[in-house]
Amino acid sequence: MSIVLFGKNGQLGRHISKNLDHRENFYSFDSSEVNFHNLNEIESCLLKYKPKLIINAAAYTKVDLAEEEIETAFKINTDAVAKIARLSKEIDACLVHYSTDYVFDGKKNDPYNELDQTGPLGIYGKSKILGEKKILDSECEYYIFRTSWVISEFGDNFLLKMLDLFKKNSPLKIIDDQYGVPTDAKFLADNSLKLVNNVETRNNIINLVPSGSTSWYNLAVYLYKKVKNFSKDSKLSRDNILPISSVDYKTLAKRPRNSILSNEKFKSLIKEAVPSWETNVDNVLNRIYKNF
Ligand SMILES: NC(=O)c1ccc[n+]([C@@H]2O[C@H](COP(=O)([O-])OP(=O)(O)OC[C@H]3O[C@@H](n4cnc5c(N)ncnc54)[C@H](OP(=O)(O)O)[C@@H]3O)[C@@H](O)[C@H]2O)c1
Repeated sequence: MSIVLFGKNGQLGRHISKNLDHRENFYSFDSSEVNFHNLNEIESCLLKYKPKLIINAAAYTKVDLAEEEIETAFKINTDAVAKIARLSKEIDACLVHYSTDYVFDGKKNDPYNELDQTGPLGIYGKSKILGEKKILDSECEYYIFRTSWVISEFGDNFLLKMLDLFKKNSPLKIIDDQYGVPTDAKFLADNSLKLVNNVETRNNIINLVPSGSTSWYNLAVYLYKKVKNFSKDSKLSRDNILPISSVDYKTLAKRPRNSILSNEKFKSLIKEAVPSWETNVDNVLNRIYKNF
């Protein structure tokens, strides 16, 4: 069975590649090989390889910049996804796609499940929910995995930013009133592929996150405590990590106060114990510091 992966160099794409690189008929692409700005490139690629499985790990993920690069965000997260979904239907492929906690407005007091009303606050979330809708409209076979706060040893993410900032002793003001679930890109890759192997779980939107939840501030403190024991680079004093409220920390994009995703459906489908977000963070640190 032939498999095509888009976005092979992203946080998630790299971990999916690690799982599938050994397989025959696995073809993976970065943006220099198949660029979503040019929908014809998507079409040529899919008609050439005629995969049975299309994994879309590519996305426009710059939440703040999306407020300015509106057209680009919709092109990559909506138009390109619509094209992939139409072609999936045409060539009878199953489309594996990833979406975000930022499709919600954050006003709910409990974790969001898959049936909850969406209502994105920013352009990124709007472009992603429209992408989801295009998949459903296309009537192709699909999986949509919604996830949140993706962290890994690669790319641009909160964990790597913190490790860098811990090397300086300047005050760090971290938002304490936004809640979510930090998710290791490897956990996301491994578990989405496990579910994809079971045809019975197809045509579902599934929240794919570890268990528990935290705020950005508590995540920073958790990381600090873990890292200070073994990293000589860490110069920051604990007193210099300060909680700050969203209203005092202006960003271009509005973010949901609560973007905690419930993983109850995922747990019932995977039929295995699901680790906590703390274990996800430890696993990323283990890969960075080689068994700290
Ligand atoms: N990061 C998060 O915190 C987060 C949270 C919730 C949901 N998600 C979702 O999870 C999925 C994976 O996210 P991630 O963190 O792995 O993303 P990422 O690290 O930002 O990677 C995204 C990839 O998309 C590719 N891409 C961007 N523009 C493209 C274009 N014009 N043509 C083709 N490819 C293009 C990039 O390819 P090149 O590197 O080759 O340019 C990049 O490697 C996405 O669907 C995202 O929306 C992420």
